[in-house]
Amino acid sequence: MSKIVNLARAWLTRNRRPFIFTDKNDEELIYMDCENLGLYVHIPFCKSICSFCPYCKTIYDKEKCNSYIDSLLREIELVCKGKPKKDVTSLYFGGGTPVLALDRLEDIISALEKHFNICDGIGVELHPSNVDVDTLRKLKSIGVTKISIGIQSFQKKYQNILGRNDIDIRKMADALKQVHFETVSMDFIFALPTQTADDLKKDIDVAFESGANHIAIYPFIDFTFTKSSVKEMPKKEKRKLLDEITNYCYQKGLKRDSIWTFSKDDKARYSSMTRDCFLGFGCSATTLLKDSFKINTFDTDAYCEKVIENTLPTSLTIKFTLRQRMVYYLFWKAYSTQVDSRDFEEFFEKKLSRYYGFELFLMKAFGLIKESNKVYKMTLKGAFYYHYFENFYTLSYIDKMWSVMRKEAFPKRIEL
Ligand SMILES: C[S@@+](CC[C@H](N)C(=O)[O-])C[C@H]1O[C@@H](n2cnc3c(N)ncnc32)[C@H](O)[C@@H]1O
Ligand code: SF4
Repeated sequence: MSKIVNLARAWLTRNRRPFIFTDKNDEELIYMDCENLGLYVHIPFCKSICSFCPYCKTIYDKEKCNSYIDSLLREIELVCKGKPKKDVTSLYFGGGTPVLALDRLEDIISALEKHFNICDGIGVELHPSNVDVDTLRKLKSIGVTKISIGIQSFQKKYQNILGRNDIDIRKMADALKQVHFETVSMDFIFALPTQTADDLKKDIDVAFESGANHIAIYPFIDFTFTKSSVKEMPKKEKRKLLDEITNYCYQKGLKRDSIWTFSKDDKARYSSMTRDCFLGFGCSATTLLKDSFKINTFDTDAYCEKVIENTLPTSLTIKFTLRQRMVYYLFWKAYSTQVDSRDFEEFFEKKLSRYYGFELFLMKAFGLIKESNKVYKMTLKGAFYYHYFENFYTLSYIDKMWSVMRKEAFPKRIEL
């Protein structure tokens, strides 16, 4: 399979050169020229570790968490000092379990608000055990407008498969009724062994009955470095399942606002990924700028040490060629299930059809996309193949990169 991924990459970037990440990192991040810039903050602490989870996380320890947050505040100053205040779309806290640092989230928000006007709200990822009235009130009081709860499944059978605890649905629904947020999103994992469309439909119903106005349904990915014994579902079954739940969401009047997410109303949005450019703070956080992408070290101790030395905790950087940046742009834009050629042209000051006209023609011919008024929209078939391609991308690129970065705080070079 890696041969196909390499061929696709060479074709789309019109270059045999792989994506090369090196330790030649910039000490200054040039972000003032980025429109549609978002912010992300990573809090890598969890009460217990789930075997299937690939993200950068470690067991919570109060002292460790506090010194990590002190370093985060320093990183923000290192990146932003001396720059004028800038408008950004949104700020997302992810993890890990950000609420374990609840009493320090306000410090982080204030530090960022010194340098940015946050225009589209603040989002926080929550573990179901975090959803109680006191926590929600506190989050709301510090300006949080969106929450995303990692349900994974409401059903005992799949909770057992994933090694997760039972969820107190009543308590959660009651808390969500008392404290209102613009977006209440719930995460689910699909394509678990023996999972049926009925199982998922039930979960979707319970989510909306319990206070969600947005859901994310992620296909299970078996990362090579996790200790999970859960196996992926075969492609055919996965496709049937995805089509059935997508149609079910449409029947319920939900809107697909990205490849994995469905919302009840236009205001309900939760996406830390579909932004043109973003600045990431904290270990493992990534930063995407006009012509480069960088990733911070995964090692929390090394992260703190670097920042104390007044050096950015960047582990690896890639400087994109124009075509590489275009592929990156299109890949992430496609998450929203559509690409507006006018946005592309504004970002690159180049015509989309001149660079990718042939590919768009082929995708139309194979029924993967439809074009209307300069917007390319994914069909149901296109959405499945995007899912499928995304899975390969995750295993060929993210899995490889994260496998190295979990072991080495500052690798010299990675070629993908
Ligand atoms: C950073 S995680 C978790 C949020 C929170 N800490 C929790 O556990 O509820 C974000 C989401 O990624 C998804 N996820 C984690 N591991 C996954 C995997 N192996 N395959 C697919 N989705 C996964 C889960 O739906 C999860 O809620
Ligand atoms: S799924 Fe959530 S709680 Fe579990 S290890 Fe990952 S980040 Fe932590």
